[in-house]
Amino acid sequence: MTSIKFAPQTAIVTGAARGIGRSIALRLADDGLDVTVNDIENKLEALNAVADEIRSKGRKALVVIADCTQESEVQHIVDETVKELGRLDVMVANAGIGGAGSILKLPLADWEKVWAVNVRGVFLCYQIAARQMVKQGNGGRIIGASSVLGKKGNALLGAYSSSKFAVRGLTQCAALELGEHGITVNAYAPGIIQTDLIGPVLSGPGSLRDLMKIPDATLGQPENIASIVSYLVKPEAHFITGQSIIVDGGVQFD
Ligand SMILES: NC(=O)c1ccc[n+]([C@@H]2O[C@H](COP(=O)([O-])OP(=O)(O)OC[C@H]3O[C@@H](n4cnc5c(N)ncnc54)[C@H](O)[C@@H]3O)[C@@H](O)[C@H]2O)c1
Repeated sequence: MTSIKFAPQTAIVTGAARGIGRSIALRLADDGLDVTVNDIENKLEALNAVADEIRSKGRKALVVIADCTQESEVQHIVDETVKELGRLDVMVANAGIGGAGSILKLPLADWEKVWAVNVRGVFLCYQIAARQMVKQGNGGRIIGASSVLGKKGNALLGAYSSSKFAVRGLTQCAALELGEHGITVNAYAPGIIQTDLIGPVLSGPGSLRDLMKIPDATLGQPENIASIVSYLVKPEAHFITGQSIIVDGGVQFD
């Protein structure tokens, strides 16, 4: 740990058009940060609506359409943030996609699609944000999206679960490397949070709820994740790093 006095003013949230990313972006605005919201082209309308909500809270919002799997596009998100908002203090590498299929049948292309967004995308966000934060010399917060499935595997979720294990591993390694710069690196590890990602597979026989044996009482809301991110971003959370924090209503323990 360093003696750098961290005072966050700006954040980037990827995959912020809806669900957990949207909720995190709004919460960070409530906390007084200016926020760059990112998502892909077909989410522009929803992303603009999130930006308007942030502005209505009296904070600056910047919309950057970019595909997080592409190095130059993640660089663009960071460069635009620094140009328009002045600096980068917080990176929330939230964008992720789902995917289910048995090990026996899963097409390689499906595996690679999940890993491109959930692992390569998160790595690019960590790397490019960290370079900017180190350059600034004011410390930082980097936060990734893992999952309870990054702690324990589940049948039929091999691609997704292993991608979230990878985020957890990367988070530990990055925390060890970046601590000397006053940058903490953590991840959230949600259980089942009711978003558009999960909604379609929540009910019916063979549903995710069946697969993971999730009782109704432990279905979470995006705000449950936004609140832990809000805390991790605060200066007082400087002593927490390298963690992937389960938020699942008590279904699973480390
Ligand atoms: N909802 C859950 O129960 C749950 C549980 C554990 C982990 N997570 C993780 O939390 C994160 C957010 O989940 P959510 O439920 O809000 O999902 P969501 O599908 O509602 O939102 C994800 C957003 O990411 C965007 N996105 C996808 N690919 C992108 C790319 N290449 N570049 C930029 N943006 C991209 C999507 O367009 C979408 O708006 C994901 O990483 C997910 O794996 C979710």
